[in-house]
Amino acid sequence: MNKVLIAGNWKMNGLTGDATREAAALADGVAEVAHVLLMIAPPTTLIHPLRIKLFERGIADRVAVGGQDCHAEVNGAHTGDVSAEMIADLGGSHVIVGHSERRTDHGESDAMVKAKAEAALRAGLVAIVCVGETEAERRGGETLAVLARQVAGSLPEGATVKNTVIAYEPVWAIGTGLTPSTDDIVEAHAAIRATAADRMDATDNLRILYGGSVKPGNAAELLALDGVDGALVGGASLKAADFLAIAAAAPARA
Ligand code: 13P
Repeated sequence: MNKVLIAGNWKMNGLTGDATREAAALADGVAEVAHVLLMIAPPTTLIHPLRIKLFERGIADRVAVGGQDCHAEVNGAHTGDVSAEMIADLGGSHVIVGHSERRTDHGESDAMVKAKAEAALRAGLVAIVCVGETEAERRGGETLAVLARQVAGSLPEGATVKNTVIAYEPVWAIGTGLTPSTDDIVEAHAAIRATAADRMDATDNLRILYGGSVKPGNAAELLALDGVDGALVGGASLKAADFLAIAAAAPARA
């Protein structure tokens, strides 16, 4: 089985001083979490500074860096946007696409997310494709239908277990301190894997991350669940100590 992936999403947080401080704190603790893969997606402005700091600390090969979003095109007249190639150019290896905050704040549809994920693969990045139901959808009993629709509509052509990761992030669990029941998470991950299997091979090895209020205190329980191959961590990824504590709670896999 694949090693667990613990991915941090800093969202719109952090200045250069934070990159310096976090890289130093990570350097102190990464040796204890050699059993997991680590990735941090800082704001675009910090991809390069964070990479430099990780290099300086000798841990650039232990902590991958990625983007939080990318445009579908290589370049062009798209003011304010960043292409997957630009993220790769800075040494990024991953990019999150279709985060619910992008879907909500920027009206991103499944088709747009799919185009962005395809751009990620074109640039040689690993696409972390986010899906997840809203509170209203869960209350309406639509969770599995929503997840099936999002996975089917958002997965890129050419997706493999090596170039694509799916993150299950229930919208109502993000930043709220709430998490689904463990049974609900297992059910959601199984449903996502089943839908993905229609579009890619060998989905036993597909990494499906859980995201939404993952903290040091609940990480061990969440990461031990069937079909959970890691976590996408927001708030708790902003402090290296918490991020590393979450990683330490992950099961060791070959
Ligand atoms: P929190 O961990 O802050 O709930 O955020 C989750 C998330 O959105 C990660 O992408």
